[in-house]
Amino acid sequence: MSRLIRAVIDSSALRANFAAVRAAAPGRRIMAVVKANAYGHGLVPTALALPDADAYAVARIEEAVALRAAGVRRAIVLLEGVFDAAQLQEAAQLELDLVVHEPLQLSLLEQYRPAYRFVAWLKVDTGMNRLGFRPEEFAAALARLQDLPEGVREIRLLTHLACADERDAAMTAEQIARFTHLAQGRGLATSIANSAAILGTPAAQADWIRPGLALYGVSPFPGETAGELGLRPAMTLETVVIATRRVPAGESVGYGGTWRAARESRIAIIAAGYGDGLPWGLPTGTSVVIAGQRLPLVGRVSMDMVAVDASGAGPGIEVGARVVLWGPELPVERMAASAGTIPYELLCSVSQRVPLVLG
Ligand SMILES: Cc1ncc(COP(=O)(O)O)c(C=O)c1O
Repeated sequence: MSRLIRAVIDSSALRANFAAVRAAAPGRRIMAVVKANAYGHGLVPTALALPDADAYAVARIEEAVALRAAGVRRAIVLLEGVFDAAQLQEAAQLELDLVVHEPLQLSLLEQYRPAYRFVAWLKVDTGMNRLGFRPEEFAAALARLQDLPEGVREIRLLTHLACADERDAAMTAEQIARFTHLAQGRGLATSIANSAAILGTPAAQADWIRPGLALYGVSPFPGETAGELGLRPAMTLETVVIATRRVPAGESVGYGGTWRAARESRIAIIAAGYGDGLPWGLPTGTSVVIAGQRLPLVGRVSMDMVAVDASGAGPGIEVGARVVLWGPELPVERMAASAGTIPYELLCSVSQRVPLVLG
C-alpha cells in the first residue's frame, strides 16, 4: 500500500474518445481542449496522447508554456487571448493562436511591432454574454483585425454556445443562426461546437470543433451516460481502505456526528477526502465501489478520509482493498449528480497531491 489515492489515466481511452469525436464530426479540424490541466487528466500527457489534434486549446499562457516546453509543435489556441503587451510578446515567442474578444486586445495588436504573424480567432458573442463582440460590434472589430496584415496572418471566427447540453434548445438554434449570418460570405474558417454540440447538434460543427469533456470520456448531457455516447472514461480515481471498524447501533461516525448507525454496522475508512478534491458536501448515500461492490459513503467527508457503510457487503472489505471513487465501473457523472455539481468540477478539483498515473 505504498500509494493511497491516485488518478489512473487511460491514454487508450483518450485516443478512443478522440476517434469517436472525429467519427461524429467527419472532416472537421479538431481543437482538443486541454485547459485546467486537461480537466484534471494532466496537461502534457493528455496532449501527447492526442498527437492527431489539429490544435490544443488552453486558458492560461502558463499552460501554453508547458506544452511548448514538452515539445508540442502543433497550434495552441489561447482561449481568452492576452491582456497586455508583455503577454502578446510571449505569445509571439511561443507562436500561439489568439482569441480576440475585447477591444483592448485589438488595441494591443494595433500597437504590436510584428515579430510573429498570429492566427487570430475573433470571438463573437451570439447570446452567452460572457466573451466576444456583440453582433452589432462584429463588422468593426473584423475590419480592425483585417487592417493588421503584418501582425495577423489569418483570421478565423468562433462563438460559444450557452445551452448545447440541452438537446434541441431554442437558444442553440438562435446562436447558430446569428453566427452563420455574420460569418456568411467572408471566407473565414469558423468554430462553434463544444462536446455537447459536436454530439448533439450537427449544424454546429462548422470548420473546427472544440471538444473537451467528451475527450475525457464523460457525457456532456445530463441523464445520458458516456457509454451510450460511445465514450470511455479516461480517469479512474482510486484509493484504498485504511481501516475497518465495527460501530455499535446508535453510535455516530465522523465530524458532527451527522450519521448514526441504525444497527450494528461495519464501516470502512477510505483514504480520500476534500484535500484530494472530493466535495465536502457529498451526501451520505453517495456510491463508491470497494472490492467490486457498490457501497454508500456515510457521514461527513474529512480532509483525508471518509467512511463507507460496508454492512452486509461480501468479502474483500479489508485494509488495502481497492476503492473506486469514479472510473469505468462508476461514472463520475453519478458522483456529480449526488454532489449537486457537474462532472467538469469534480475532474478539475482533483488536487495536486493526487498523483496522476498513466495506465
Ligand atoms: C471556448 C470553449 N470552447 C470549448 C470548450 C470545451 O467544452 P466541453 O468541455 O464542454 O467540450 C470550452 C470549455 O469550457 C470553452 O470554454
